[in-house]
Amino acid sequence: MSLHPDVEKVLVTGQQLQDRVNELGRRISDDYAGKDLLVIGVLKGAAWFVADLTRAITIPFNVDFMAVSSYGAAHKSSGVVRIIKDLDAPVAGRHVLIAEDILDTGLTLRYLIKNFEVRGAASVEVAACVIKAGAQQENIPVRYDGFVIPNEFVVGYGLDYAENYRGLPYIGQLKQSVYS
Ligand code: IMP
Ligand code: MG
Repeated sequence: MSLHPDVEKVLVTGQQLQDRVNELGRRISDDYAGKDLLVIGVLKGAAWFVADLTRAITIPFNVDFMAVSSYGAAHKSSGVVRIIKDLDAPVAGRHVLIAEDILDTGLTLRYLIKNFEVRGAASVEVAACVIKAGAQQENIPVRYDGFVIPNEFVVGYGLDYAENYRGLPYIGQLKQSVYS
């Protein structure tokens, strides 16, 4: 597949994503066997990750989605987390696994973990498809980590810039000329 003209370089290939996500699904299936597992995807970006991850989970589970916003259309985190769409069902007593597309500052995940703990989840863990090295302002324990990438702005596999590029089958570094 040819590279999108706005992409500087590919950081994680589609094949690497599939292999790693399948492996995470196997681990999750082992770890949550016999437990009431609720996978919560963070819209919109994590939808692609959740779709692949859940197809690799071999035990019973439910899926829900939450939409939060910390970015608007810009490419820098505002630090302000806003709930756009809440869960459909209560999480009390359930084992929550938050699936996030990317761990950047960690502000979004910090907020969500706290939020689900307050709602009485039996446990709260995090699966993050990619983690930006050295970008975290919050210490977030990520039990299921996909890939550590450089602290660059990336798109693809659900990740967007101003709502574009989400469908790219790889994770690529966006050319700086696109957002500066
Ligand atoms: P955090 O709260 O700073 O960790 O950022 C969380 C959200 O910011 C992610 O779920 C993404 O939606 C968005 N984000 C952070 N870095 C990037 C990036 O490099 N590309 C696209 N979206 C990003
Ligand atoms: Mg997101």
